[in-house]
Amino acid sequence: MAYTVAVVVLKGGAGKSVTAIALGEAAAESGAASTLVDADPMGGSVRHALLAEQAGRPLRSTVIGLPAGDLPKRMGSITPGADIVTIDGPPPGALKIARAAIEAADVVVMPCPARPGDLDRVPATLELAADAGVPVYGVFTFYKRGTNIADAAETLVKQYGVNMLSSRLLDSSKVAENYGLRPRGPLARYGRDLLEELTRKAAE
Ligand SMILES: Nc1ncnc2c1ncn2[C@@H]1O[C@H](COP(=O)(O)OP(=O)(O)OP(=O)(O)O)[C@@H](O)[C@H]1O
Ligand SMILES: [Mg+2]
Repeated sequence: MAYTVAVVVLKGGAGKSVTAIALGEAAAESGAASTLVDADPMGGSVRHALLAEQAGRPLRSTVIGLPAGDLPKRMGSITPGADIVTIDGPPPGALKIARAAIEAADVVVMPCPARPGDLDRVPATLELAADAGVPVYGVFTFYKRGTNIADAAETLVKQYGVNMLSSRLLDSSKVAENYGLRPRGPLARYGRDLLEELTRKAAE
């Protein structure tokens, strides 16, 4: 069975897609058979994969669009032979799909924008994962090192009781510039850090 990671937070624009793509591509880079399931009805990851292909450097993961409420049931047949499956979670309105993505996973990675005003949906996301009995790790995205806003975000996730990973994605135009491309620079490094940290946690 493939190790399945759902990248979910009930917040739009939180860095779900960049996190899912970075993780899936890091896994593929390391030699694993990596499948990326795009559970977003808007199909952001599928589009990203198409653009990368058109640019002549296709993603190394197999990318499948499946924004379905019955994902758990369908996982076996859509990801045959995969070592790792990364699910790019849907936007906040699609609660049924978010629940299905979590239920299909061994672990949830919850992108937490390092800005207190964008952490309002963290408790609801934790609750959804707790209901499904799936462990959750938070990961900071849009992180601005050494700023008051990042410190305030750190305090808030502590208050919410989030189990945070030490990997983090810095706020950088270099990340946004990766749209439609194979991850490189800080985004590729973030993917490798995440993979390494999750692999370590899975072995614990
Ligand atoms: N660390 C970052 N620094 C700068 N820009 C970023 C960073 N992370 C993501 N972005 C940009 O922010 C936007 C939102 O990121 P992304 O699409 O990954 O979020 P999402 O949670 O998947 O959003 P949606 O809810 O729309 O699916 C994208 O344009 C992306 O390129
Ligand atoms: Mg997205």
